[in-house]
Amino acid sequence: MMGGVFVGNCNLLELRKKIDMDRLPRHIAIIMDGNGRWAKKRFLPRTAGHREGMKRVIEIVEVAEKLNIEYLSLFAFSTENWKRPKEEVEGLMKLLVEYIRIELDRIHKNNIKIQTMGDISRLPEFARKEVERAIDLTKDNTKMVLNIGLNYGGRSEIIRGIKNLLEDVRMGKIDIEGVDEDSFKRYLYTSDLPDPDLLIRPSGELRVSNFMLYQIAYTEFWFSDIYWPDFKEEHLYMAIIDYQRRNRRFGGI
Ligand code: FPP
Repeated sequence: MMGGVFVGNCNLLELRKKIDMDRLPRHIAIIMDGNGRWAKKRFLPRTAGHREGMKRVIEIVEVAEKLNIEYLSLFAFSTENWKRPKEEVEGLMKLLVEYIRIELDRIHKNNIKIQTMGDISRLPEFARKEVERAIDLTKDNTKMVLNIGLNYGGRSEIIRGIKNLLEDVRMGKIDIEGVDEDSFKRYLYTSDLPDPDLLIRPSGELRVSNFMLYQIAYTEFWFSDIYWPDFKEEHLYMAIIDYQRRNRRFGGI
């Protein structure tokens, strides 16, 4: 057992050494998928998979902090997830609250700012209040932004942005000729975040599922077959190492 642990740590150190600390992705986004299948494989209820997924959130946020990643976006609840059974939705909301209760002090001490994307006014009151408390407490923190997608959908974000933009045009606050790709970004939930450099999706699905559609135009994707509850520190390192091997041209040559 000791030997196994030792070998594991060794691999981790080896992997870590391969990361070029001068070329880290500034913004990593993760679609945390596969909780349900992880649970099913173990004959457990789906909520057990989400609970294990929550533990990975705690760990991966810490790893991202250690690496000095500036922005971490996590897809926790989509606009489509309301279609799931009532108990599962409620379980996810309770886990969100539990996460905040376990982690908020540590997050705040470590100078991390929690923010959300999505319409949180639709969350059940007990969850919304806890999320608002976390946002409020950490609003002036500067080390890292932990951006959580809650009742979030990329298309509805864009439509909300267009509506707010049209309202500003109507009020004479902006001139329609002045609208361009960059100025439109101010109308998204992520107005104060750079676009993600790296998007990670575990669980074997090769799709974007309505996540950060406007923001991922030039993002590098990293897919893996492992389920989110199995996603460990080494997988984040592997994703970053692969990312650093790629040649990002942004449409140039
Ligand atoms: C997708 O797996 C995952 C979710 C819908 C929820 C993600 C939530 C967590 C990881 C826990 C709480 C989050 C925070 C930020 C504390 P799935 O259920 O669709 O998996 P499946 O495709 O295998 O069924």
